[in-house]
Amino acid sequence: MPRLFVALELPTALREAVAGLQSGLPNARWLKPDSLHLTFAFIGEVDPRKQQAIETALGTVTAPAFRMKLQGVGCFPPRGAPRVLWTGASPETELASLAGDIRIALGSLELTSERRPFLPHVTIARFKRPPSDTDLATYLDAHSIFETPSFEIGSFHLFSSELRPTGARYTLQTSIPLAGTSHHRC
Ligand code: 2AM
Repeated sequence: MPRLFVALELPTALREAVAGLQSGLPNARWLKPDSLHLTFAFIGEVDPRKQQAIETALGTVTAPAFRMKLQGVGCFPPRGAPRVLWTGASPETELASLAGDIRIALGSLELTSERRPFLPHVTIARFKRPPSDTDLATYLDAHSIFETPSFEIGSFHLFSSELRPTGARYTLQTSIPLAGTSHHRC
């Protein structure tokens, strides 16, 4: 059964900027540049026969294109042993509005998706074993002023995720253009 999620793929310039964050923290398993994404909705495993309905529902989203930047670094969970290291994404209003539209579009499909609240972020590393408090504090301090220029986001995507011992492998299923853009990825 495909394991699906809806996300933004990062423009190349933002991936390159993230590469500058991906060192200097023991125990971090850094995500590869082509795995970096911003998740809007995690759908989970679905009957393959439902995928077409999911793609059709996503195609009804009519949000406008917007410009996005990355800013700052942080961890999930915010207290206790960190499992995920992320960089934040803005503008929050546009991102939250698009996430809301996507979740509403999927809402009619009787999916059993887990509904985490939407916190606009791009996961840049995961931890099998947490770093020491000192190493983490040093890293977060060093990158607290991280901020990229903003880049146009003209589409969002449905991905499948295959869990492997070496880390999840993501495969693009379909791209949905945002209003006001003329390019299509597929
Ligand atoms: P992330 O965006 O914070 O990294 C694919 O698994 C993506 O969906 C991951 O990038 C992950 O978080 C996000 N996601 C959200 N809820 C999830 C869940 N319950 N299980 C796995 N991944 C989830």
